[in-house]
Amino acid sequence: MTIHIGAAPGEIAETVLMPGDPYRAKWAAERFLDSPKLVNETRGMLGYTGTWKGQKVTIQGSGMGMPSLSIYANELIHDYGAKTLIRIGSCGGMQPQIGLRDLILAMTASTLSTPSRGMFRELNFAPCADWGLLKAAADAAAARDHKTHIGGIYSSDVFYDERPDLNEQMTRHGILGVEMEAAELYILAARHGVRALAVLTVSDHLQTQEALPASERETSFGDMVEVALEAAFA
Ligand code: ADE
Repeated sequence: MTIHIGAAPGEIAETVLMPGDPYRAKWAAERFLDSPKLVNETRGMLGYTGTWKGQKVTIQGSGMGMPSLSIYANELIHDYGAKTLIRIGSCGGMQPQIGLRDLILAMTASTLSTPSRGMFRELNFAPCADWGLLKAAADAAAARDHKTHIGGIYSSDVFYDERPDLNEQMTRHGILGVEMEAAELYILAARHGVRALAVLTVSDHLQTQEALPASERETSFGDMVEVALEAAFA
């Protein structure tokens, strides 16, 4: 047990999928894992462990934003020995060719700041995905014929961002989408020598103002979970 995760030793798999929303962890575990077992409910941040095609997998909520993700990722890596951490979540599209429901595989994650900023000081560290996971996820998405984009994303600290000029600059520099967790996940993975990737579904679009209706979010989310699982065990 850790401060934020109540799982017993051995109850967390080396491969962990991390949605922001704990109820998505429950939904994904019940839908995709065999024999899912609730292993964490501390603070309602649900985590489940089961098997996928015979392989042990944990699906653990991370909460929203990098400070929250950092708590769970640190404890999963340090205390439970997690070796592969894949964020599965939603993002806002930032390029005209990107549509709702498309997948984005985050090769890099730009930021203004992360919880690690104090450690890096003047260095602008470039958080990037594990190449093997990224390649495997790209192959899995291509095999499923799912419209997928691979490139840089932006991990923001602000959902209700009142700086439109910043989003414009991100778009101008080719950033595909915005979410709030991947950069710190990539930094922690680099620091601790483990693998990380963010597989994202476009749930809204910053330019068109379109957003997925709640009824459709679940189906699109399913494609992302399968791509993440296939990548983890490729
Ligand atoms: N996650 C999904 N949509 C988002 C947005 N527009 N900004 C930040 N995070 C998001």
